[in-house]
Amino acid sequence: MTWRTWYKEHLFTPAQAVQQIKSGQRVVVAHACGEPSIILDALVAHAAQYENVEIIHMVAMGKAAYCQPQYDKNFHHNAFFLGGSTRAAAAEGRVDFTPVYFSEIPSLLREDLRPNVTLLQCSPPDAHGYVSLGVSVDYTKPAAEASDLVIAQVNQNMPRTLGDSFLHVTQIGCLVEADTPVIELAPPKIGDVERAIGENVASLVRDGDTLQLGIGAIPDAVLLFLKEKNDLGIHTEMFSDGVVELVEAGVITNKAKTLHRGQSIATFLMGTRRLYDYVNNNPAVAMYPVDYVNDPYVIGQNDNLVSINSCVQVDIMGQVVSTSAGLRQISGVGGQVDFVRGANLSKGGRAIMAMPSTTGKGKISKIVPFLDQGSAVTTTRNEVNYVITEYGIAKLKGKSLRQRAEALIRIAHPDFRDELTAEFRRRYPRDY
Ligand code: COA
Repeated sequence: MTWRTWYKEHLFTPAQAVQQIKSGQRVVVAHACGEPSIILDALVAHAAQYENVEIIHMVAMGKAAYCQPQYDKNFHHNAFFLGGSTRAAAAEGRVDFTPVYFSEIPSLLREDLRPNVTLLQCSPPDAHGYVSLGVSVDYTKPAAEASDLVIAQVNQNMPRTLGDSFLHVTQIGCLVEADTPVIELAPPKIGDVERAIGENVASLVRDGDTLQLGIGAIPDAVLLFLKEKNDLGIHTEMFSDGVVELVEAGVITNKAKTLHRGQSIATFLMGTRRLYDYVNNNPAVAMYPVDYVNDPYVIGQNDNLVSINSCVQVDIMGQVVSTSAGLRQISGVGGQVDFVRGANLSKGGRAIMAMPSTTGKGKISKIVPFLDQGSAVTTTRNEVNYVITEYGIAKLKGKSLRQRAEALIRIAHPDFRDELTAEFRRRYPRDY
């Protein structure tokens, strides 16, 4: 059978496609902006016919309607990350959370949590019958390969990204054509605090460095201060519109990279149409599954790798909490530890943790004497390197506990320095 015949014979409506899912099955949903909205909507519309379908997802950028209380008996969400649409349901005890490094999700899906079905979105097939997974290759491709059935929304609006980003249509059991807009992430608002943090972070970036950037206002603020740098490179789990601007300005060239010279490497993308048009059929960008991009040993093959991530709380020993506030789960580890480890393995690498000094409208210090009860450490004090706030840079690597505490108190918000110093004096009464 030719792939064209396969394609025609496996075309379904969204409602027909979701009939293939059975009660009690494990369903993996494509990550972030790769979420196939048409298929998820059909699944939720037919909720009454399912009992206890497990839905595994990481960053849910859509409505996550399957988390609503009326579907408690139909769907059970097992989250690898929490975001705006899933945090409340998790706080109400209706969502399970499974801790896992982003780089290890593919092996988890292959070996421990094998999916019955993967729901994803892809570009239309090329002349050889290959579809590109576009903005979400990450765990989506490995999940599709490990599943009994793949249901794919084929979307003209999904960019055809290059790299190890393709499936053949004969690997897809149900194809659903729907040209909906690909989910977009609007550029974040960058305030004075983020600008100050961005400037501090950028001061550690040198010409020829390769960057990993997280999601949000701080990474975008960093990019604002990199306009005078030369020959920067990208090896990151995700990037957004800000990178396109620096490519167009000639700042990001990938020329100095020691791995994948000439290409920006990523595993997923979140941004606006501008980003999606930029990556479409663009050989300067290569997308790979996350067990490659986020493998610390792969990351470490990039000399001068600078990782930039954010966190919730840092104690004065340098223990970093990034996913919870006490017992309240806020997000997930994502690729933070993968990249901290990779940057530590990289010759000339620097792992940066950047955060505002306070939260809760300035009433809560993020630098604390003791972590909140119940908080889970994300990046240990053995791995932490730089911590940056709007008040400066604390280099912790190679520093004693006493020196770390001093450095962190210097970059805490002034309103909290006395309290932190009192604890410092209690722990370290003797001056050196
Ligand atoms: N104490 C109590 N609550 C805190 C807090 C603290 N020290 N710091 C943050 N929070 C709360 C905020 O109040 C907010 O709660 P709300 O949504 O109820 O208002 C929530 O945590 C998110 O904080 P915000 O400052 O809006 O987060 P952000 O969007 O800048 O993301 C992280 C910050 C740490 C959550 C995010 O960077 C993350 O998830 N990191 C781990 C994953 C990672 O680094 N991946 C690699 C790069 S993609």
